[in-house]
Amino acid sequence: MKTILFHPETDADAIPQAAAILRRGGLLGIPTETVYGLGADALNETAVRHIFEAKGRPQDNPLIIHVPDASWLERYCREVPETAYRLAERFWPGPLTMILPRRENVPLQTTGGLETVGVRCPDHPVTRAIIEAAGVPVAAPSGNTSGRPSPTTAGHMAEDMDGKIDGIVDGGPCAVGVESTIIDLTVTPPRLLRPGGLPLEALEEVLGTVAVDKAVTGLLKDGEKPRAPGMKYRHYAPKAPVTAVTGDPAHSALVIRGLLREKAGVICFDEFAGYFEGHIVHRLGPFTDKLAQAQRVFDALRTFDGTDVTEIFAQCPDDAGLGLAVGNRLKKAAGFHLIDGDAPVVIGITG
Ligand code: TXA
Ligand code: MG
Repeated sequence: MKTILFHPETDADAIPQAAAILRRGGLLGIPTETVYGLGADALNETAVRHIFEAKGRPQDNPLIIHVPDASWLERYCREVPETAYRLAERFWPGPLTMILPRRENVPLQTTGGLETVGVRCPDHPVTRAIIEAAGVPVAAPSGNTSGRPSPTTAGHMAEDMDGKIDGIVDGGPCAVGVESTIIDLTVTPPRLLRPGGLPLEALEEVLGTVAVDKAVTGLLKDGEKPRAPGMKYRHYAPKAPVTAVTGDPAHSALVIRGLLREKAGVICFDEFAGYFEGHIVHRLGPFTDKLAQAQRVFDALRTFDGTDVTEIFAQCPDDAGLGLAVGNRLKKAAGFHLIDGDAPVVIGITG
């Protein structure tokens, strides 16, 4: 299959042509503020099945649906609580996915067999225009091959999907860089299933108490299931094994320097890049600039695959603000193989 690359900035036909691909059941790479998505008509079971095939994604891992505004919530969800509208009012369009009971018009193929559905309104004008023109909600997981780091540029999307999908819409690099925050509104108190581009603290301002699913911290015991099925898979992983080092950055930098062997790569804050001369280093940005870290974390993980590094060490930010999401992605890439840089012992290894 030839994958068409659309440039909506310079090509006025790009949006209607991209919408036509969705309407006829095709697969389309779409830009959002978080990561690029692999989109298809969420109501078309065949199209949705093709998403799973193109990604190599397990069928029990549900897809979220994308809508152009909150007025679409009622169409695809039952029993929409008042809190959903309050969250939408405050944070949509934006990096927040709400889990709500599904209506029967949303196929089980899309929800991975669940009676709930995740809904999000992305903050990218091109993608909202494409969804409105298509007139259907768009199911879109992150546009990576299953298990690889999520794509944050049209180029990443092409690396994984060129030749497998109908088109990719180039909307520039993603402004946030990590996926949406997922909040389950079907339980009390609401439960954070995945930290993401909207900080937990912002949700707490609106919701008060928020429970945090154990999968977020990686502290699931054997046999325990995360509530977001996707959180159980090893993820975001480059080919070389990753070790994530937490704690004060001055400590984590020293711990990493002590562990580096030849051909080890490093993901670090800008301030510490000089510690690792002679190694391939990807900078996340300054220690205090968590937005820069979010924007770069997937690119850093992804670009090691073009090199001959045999192991990767990553400095983790603290959990405040976007740090929770950035740290979660690094820890997941490490399969939760962690070292506490403040007391350098291995503090967790799980699947
Ligand atoms: O930012 C994002 O959310 C991106 C962009 C493209 O919008 N999409 C994305 O989709 O990250 P995906 O499929 O890669 O991650 C969605 C996560 C998965 O872990 C999935 O298991 C979980 O959401 N999920 C989807 N529907 C769910 C449901 N009904 N209940 C619980 N978890 C759900
Ligand atoms: Mg994903």
